[in-house]
Amino acid sequence: MADGKTIVLGVTGGIAAYKAADLVSRLVKDRCQVHVIMTEAATQFVSPLTFRTLSGNPVSTDLFSEPGTWNVRHISLAEKADLMVIAPATANIIGKIAQGIADDMLSTTVMAARCPVLIAPAMNVNMYLNPIVQENIRSLEKHGFYFIGPAAGHLACGTQGQGRMVEAAVIQEKIMDLFLGKHDFAGKKILVTAGPTREYLDPIRFLTNRSTGTMGYSLAKAAACRGAAVHLVTGPTCLADPLGIKITKVESAREMQAAVEEIFPEMDIVIKTAAVADYRPKITANQKIKKKDGDLSLSLARNPDILLELGRKKKHQILVGFAAETESLLEYAQEKMIAKNLDLIVANNIKEEGAGFGTTTNIVTIITKEGQMHRLPQMTKIDTAHAILDHLRMLAE
Ligand SMILES: Cc1cc2nc3c(=O)[nH]c(=O)nc-3n(C[C@H](O)[C@H](O)[C@H](O)COP(=O)(O)O)c2cc1C
Repeated sequence: MADGKTIVLGVTGGIAAYKAADLVSRLVKDRCQVHVIMTEAATQFVSPLTFRTLSGNPVSTDLFSEPGTWNVRHISLAEKADLMVIAPATANIIGKIAQGIADDMLSTTVMAARCPVLIAPAMNVNMYLNPIVQENIRSLEKHGFYFIGPAAGHLACGTQGQGRMVEAAVIQEKIMDLFLGKHDFAGKKILVTAGPTREYLDPIRFLTNRSTGTMGYSLAKAAACRGAAVHLVTGPTCLADPLGIKITKVESAREMQAAVEEIFPEMDIVIKTAAVADYRPKITANQKIKKKDGDLSLSLARNPDILLELGRKKKHQILVGFAAETESLLEYAQEKMIAKNLDLIVANNIKEEGAGFGTTTNIVTIITKEGQMHRLPQMTKIDTAHAILDHLRMLAE
C-alpha cells in the first residue's frame, strides 16, 4: 500500500488510453492520490469524466484553464507528485520531453517535475523502432527517466511486434516495487561510487576507460527510492545528477580515494561500481606535451587500491565490489572478494553482448561471501540495481 502518495498520471493520445483507466482504479485501491492530466489527443479516446470519476479528482486537460485558486496548476501538480507516470506515452510526448518542449499541460508539468517519471510507451511497431524514437528514449533514460515496456504482441493497428503498452497490473507492480512500496533501506546510509576516473598527462590529455557511470547511478537512484540516504561519489559522466542524492564529483583515483575515505566511517553500506584507473602517469606536465620526432614512452605509477583500503578499514560496514572482467570472470571475482575483504561481489563479463560499459542493460552474477552464486538474466541497469539491493537487504538485516 502506498498510503497518501501522490501520483500524477499523464494520459496521451493512443488506443491504449483505455488501459489507463484500469491503472487509475488500481492505484486508488492502493490508496494513492491520483491526479490525471490528459493531452488533447487523449480526450479523443477516453472521456475525462472516466478519469475524474475513478480518481475522484479534477482532470487537467488545458494549461490555460486554471482552477479558481491562487496556485498555478502545472507547478502545483509537479510539486505535489511523489511520482509521475505517463501511460500510455505516444511517440509524440516522448519526443517532446526529449527536446524540452513544454506546450501543453502534460509536457509543461513534466518539465517542472522533480520527482521520478515513469514512461510506458505504446505505439505501432514501426513508430517504436524508428531510430528517432529510440534515440529520444535513450536520451530520456540518460536524463534519469524510467521506462516500462512496451511489450510485443498484436497491436491495435493490426500489426504484430513491439509496441503494446504493458498491462496496468504490471505498471502498478513496478510503481509499488520501485517507487512507493518498499522503504526497506530507510535509515541506511549508502555510499555508491560510479563512473571512470581521469589520470592527466598534461592539462588536456588523460588516461581513462569506457565506464559511463550508468550502473552506479542506477544503484544510487534505486537505493534512494527504497529510502536510503545516498551519497554518490562519481567520476566524470554525461549523466544528469539524480534528484535527492548527495553528490561529490571527482576526477582522479586519488581524488576519489580522498572523498570516499572521508565519508566511509559513517556509512552502513558501500557499493563500489567506479572503474578506477589502476595506474596514473608518474608526471603530469604543467603545459601541453609537444610532439617530437620518434616515440614517446609513458612512465606509470600505481594508483591507490581504494577497495582494498576500505576492506582493511571496515568495521560495521557492508562492502560490495564489482568485477568487470573479460575472462575467467567468476574465479577472478571470487579472488577479488577474498583479497579485498568484501561481503558481496557483482561480476560481469564486459565482453558479453548486453553487459558492461556503455549499455543500458547488464548481465551479472551476484556472489556472496559464502560462495553462493546468483546469475541474473539480461535486465535494464535499474532492474539489476534493484536485484542487487534485494540481495543486500538480506545481509543488512
Ligand atoms: C486511432 C489512432 C490511434 C493512435 N494511436 C497511437 C499510439 O498508440 N501511439 C502513438 O504514439 N500515437 C498514436 N496515434 C497518433 C497520436 O494520437 C498523435 O501523434 C497525437 O499527436 C499525439 O498527441 P499527444 O502526444 O499530445 O497525445 C494515434 C492516432 C489515431 C488517430
